[in-house]
Amino acid sequence: MRIMKWGYLPPNSMHMGVVGCCGVKIEGTSALIAGGASGLGEATSRALVEAGAGVVIADVNSEKGEALAAELGDAATFVAADVTDAETVSAAVARAAEGDGGLRISVCCAGVGWAERVAHKGGPHNLEMFSKVISINLIGTFNVLSQAAASMSGNEPDEEGERGVCVNTASIAAYDGQIGQIAYSASKGGVVGMTLPAARDLSSRGIRVMTIAPGLMDTPMLAALPEEHRQALGAGIPFPSRLGRPEEYARLVADIVGNTMLNGETIRLDGALRMPPK
Ligand SMILES: NC(=O)c1ccc[n+]([C@@H]2O[C@H](COP(=O)([O-])OP(=O)(O)OC[C@H]3O[C@@H](n4cnc5c(N)ncnc54)[C@H](O)[C@@H]3O)[C@@H](O)[C@H]2O)c1
Repeated sequence: MRIMKWGYLPPNSMHMGVVGCCGVKIEGTSALIAGGASGLGEATSRALVEAGAGVVIADVNSEKGEALAAELGDAATFVAADVTDAETVSAAVARAAEGDGGLRISVCCAGVGWAERVAHKGGPHNLEMFSKVISINLIGTFNVLSQAAASMSGNEPDEEGERGVCVNTASIAAYDGQIGQIAYSASKGGVVGMTLPAARDLSSRGIRVMTIAPGLMDTPMLAALPEEHRQALGAGIPFPSRLGRPEEYARLVADIVGNTMLNGETIRLDGALRMPPK
């Protein structure tokens, strides 16, 4: 058998340290998780602490954020921050940058949903709500990304020249927006759209930018639905036919952090789900 020079991992490569050899190290590294108090962000906060990172949980929900930080112990700190606000995000970034080696992992999970058609019997879509969703999901993600990247710029580069990695959260609604998802889809489409230019902008500083587009995940965002409806949603996913677990999102974050070649791309995490119009 001819073995190509690339794309070939020997069977025992795990033991040889080939897998997991690169990317930003999680152990002993400082991370910021915006929207880290609940759902996907909470799972990521837990996973990164478990892997040995120091985590700053930044969220508007102080009650949940403080309780989670207390549960996770010394490795976690809660900072009350609204992603739409420059000052509180700046304070959270500064807090995370106090860690050894500076802030190197930034994940933005903060987001909200809103269901309304572009126009309906009652008139046009509520403009204030459209702006609010764009403000939190898109502008808030940009605020976290740009402030985290500015902080990472000052880090010492590792042996590959890498200074940090930023992970944004979009949604498959960026591609398959359903009826009533105009504001949400527009906001998430914006997050997908800024991923490549952000990665290009930051490439000279050795900072990577990736986006995860989850499908249907079992978080408090979906918990409001009746169990029957949640089961039906899960059953509609080609494989695996269940809702995604928040831990599966956290695992993808860790994979992205550990793989330097992943940059400027959005990864769907959806079990091959393609959403129908409704
Ligand atoms: N759950 C899903 O099925 C799903 C699917 C696709 C995309 N997403 C996206 O994943 C992200 C996380 O969603 P989730 O399901 O974990 O929801 P969640 O409601 O459990 O968590 C969202 C967190 O963001 C925080 N937050 C909201 N507004 C904020 C603000 N202005 N500033 C700071 N924090 C704020 C909330 O307090 C909460 O802790 C969101 O961006 C969501 O749009 C979720």
